[in-house]
Amino acid sequence: LDAAREALERLVVDVPDFPEPGVVFKDITPLLADHAGLSAVVEAIADAGRDADGATVVDKVVGMEARGFILAAPVALALGAGFVPVRKAGKLPRGAHAVSYALEYGEATLELHHDAVAPGERVLLVDDVLATGGTVRAARELVEACGATPVGVAVLLELGFLAGRDAVGDLPIHSIAVI
Ligand code: PRP
Ligand code: MG
Repeated sequence: LDAAREALERLVVDVPDFPEPGVVFKDITPLLADHAGLSAVVEAIADAGRDADGATVVDKVVGMEARGFILAAPVALALGAGFVPVRKAGKLPRGAHAVSYALEYGEATLELHHDAVAPGERVLLVDDVLATGGTVRAARELVEACGATPVGVAVLLELGFLAGRDAVGDLPIHSIAVI
């Protein structure tokens, strides 16, 4: 976890006024481009899917489009679990559950194939940033709609001032760093 925190501090770049004035965008692309940094954060996130003895306790790792995909797939491999994409509306080709959530302006919809996770399976939700919590909350509801059990959320960065944790509910949230 220390190596992952150090990598985040060193390699995530703050971009002021992107995508709009007043917002500081967290650019993770330099972190992804650094093999040691990427390895450290993937391992730290994977620990959220392990018990105290290091055994994997999840069947699937769900990543949320788009930046969640980048982290969730290597985390799934590290855990010996499958990877499942939660996609933005209209991208999945077969029958899917849909959950909409509020954005600052308007609404977004996320979708998950009906059979993407099986009833009773245990799922780790992975994304890059927890901000208002709308994305994670929607993903949680999608997994539950399949009858599976979300056992935790893991993110690189939690924006503590936005109280996303409260929006997600009682699910354990593992953040490498809280800012
Ligand atoms: C960003 C980020 C998280 C989400 C966090 O994704 O990657 O998924 O916002 O915000 P929230 O907690 O308020 O929901 P975004 O929707 O911008 O899209 P992207 O991942 O496709 O870039
Ligand atoms: Mg995202």
